[in-house]
Amino acid sequence: MKERIYTSELSGKVGETVVLAGWVDVRRDQGKMVFFDFRDMKGKIQCVVLPSQAEAIVVAKEMRPEWVLRLEGIVNKRPEKNINPNIPSGDVELEVTKIEVLNQAETPPFELADTMTVGEDTRLKYRYLDLRSERMQKNIRMRDSVVSFLREYMHKNDFIEIETPMMTKGTPEGSREYIVPSRLFHGNFYVLPQSPQQFKQLSMVAGFEKYFQVARCMRDEDTRGDRQPEFTQLDMEVSFVDSEDIMAYNEAMLIELVKNVYPEKRISAIPFPRISYAESMEKYGNDKPDMRENKKDPNELAFCWVVDFPMFESDGDGGVQAVHHPFTSPKQEDTHLLETEPLKARANAYDVVLNGFELGGGSIRIHKRDLQNKIFQLLGLADETINARFGHILTAFEYGAPPHGGIAWGIDRLIMILQNEPNIREVIAFPKTGEGRDLMMGAPGEMPEKTLRELGLQIRK
Ligand code: AMO
Repeated sequence: MKERIYTSELSGKVGETVVLAGWVDVRRDQGKMVFFDFRDMKGKIQCVVLPSQAEAIVVAKEMRPEWVLRLEGIVNKRPEKNINPNIPSGDVELEVTKIEVLNQAETPPFELADTMTVGEDTRLKYRYLDLRSERMQKNIRMRDSVVSFLREYMHKNDFIEIETPMMTKGTPEGSREYIVPSRLFHGNFYVLPQSPQQFKQLSMVAGFEKYFQVARCMRDEDTRGDRQPEFTQLDMEVSFVDSEDIMAYNEAMLIELVKNVYPEKRISAIPFPRISYAESMEKYGNDKPDMRENKKDPNELAFCWVVDFPMFESDGDGGVQAVHHPFTSPKQEDTHLLETEPLKARANAYDVVLNGFELGGGSIRIHKRDLQNKIFQLLGLADETINARFGHILTAFEYGAPPHGGIAWGIDRLIMILQNEPNIREVIAFPKTGEGRDLMMGAPGEMPEKTLRELGLQIRK
């Protein structure tokens, strides 16, 4: 059998017989002839079946959109007026000589041409069909381009990717956690990570110096347009650095990313403007200022850094809570305020903001036991709680922990903005609904009684 090639390769093959495999897209029956668009992972090609192809024309009359075919045919030049310069192989068409039906298909529950107009529930229930649309294919493929660019950039700069556990213990990042019951230890639970925060810091204690991870994070919080219960960060941590180093490295990487993967986009200001938290709150009323010059320009990217965050905010109950997370170090010059006026102490923390969205956040961390312990106490934790929850990291700090800091950005958010999509669901292959459900798989779902018993669980009605 002839080797299968892709629709994008046909341009230079006029006059040759080729084999394609893929899906029937739009089909137009024109009396004696059948025209149809044929789709594979590289794009589409117009096909024609002539009445002289006795066997093929019978199949062509019967076949429907989304049927899966292997085609054999001759590549012909298209008439000048039908040339489409905007798509690969837009100057040729396929005169089909043979059709092998690999699989038939039901009529899809919605048109695949523009699925944005289809109800969310239907799209997500049939996500595998939704993903066939040109827009979704592009989003997911661009996502891959972005992630592979970032991985390569990090590696070129001596970072190594370290996988950290998915089943672990709670780490405070300000959200509710998803928990997994243990079968072997009834009444004990693993916690899914809200971020790899403690593991990346422990990787610094372990001497790796430059860690990164394309990290999956889980947070049991209300879903919004820019929030999913499960999302991906570009997470990094570096030893022997200050906040300027982290910001400079990340700024350069974002600029290179745009230059390489989105050359049509324009960054409004380089270096990225910086604004203090206090000034941002005063001028913009929030801590993620939208600094675009023209909010209607889909190609404008306005990055900025927000710095000088407070260490703490009131928890509304007479106590304080960490604004970033409790591993963040205070600014050297504000350390004395910790005892007297903790709400006035500023943190060594920075956020990167893009077009009014918080893209990422990070900080220089505490790397000494005493200071870390004091911060936990200020957060109102009793000594036994500190030991039970954080004894491991306090102990680690006693074994030569280097000064270190890092940042994590939301990859889904970044790609949502780069692709001009209104919601991060549009750039995640298999996302959850607004209510945190996976309608395709049917999750979350109930468990059989036997499983619950094994886990030592009883459901309260
Ligand atoms: P933070 O909690 O600020 O920091 O998260 C970093 C970035 O992750 C993205 N993000 C989300 N994206 C989609 N859905 C969500 N539910 C969601 N939650 C967060 C955002 C955010 O800016 N460990 C620290 C980082 C550090 O200190 O190095 C952390 O996770 O784009």
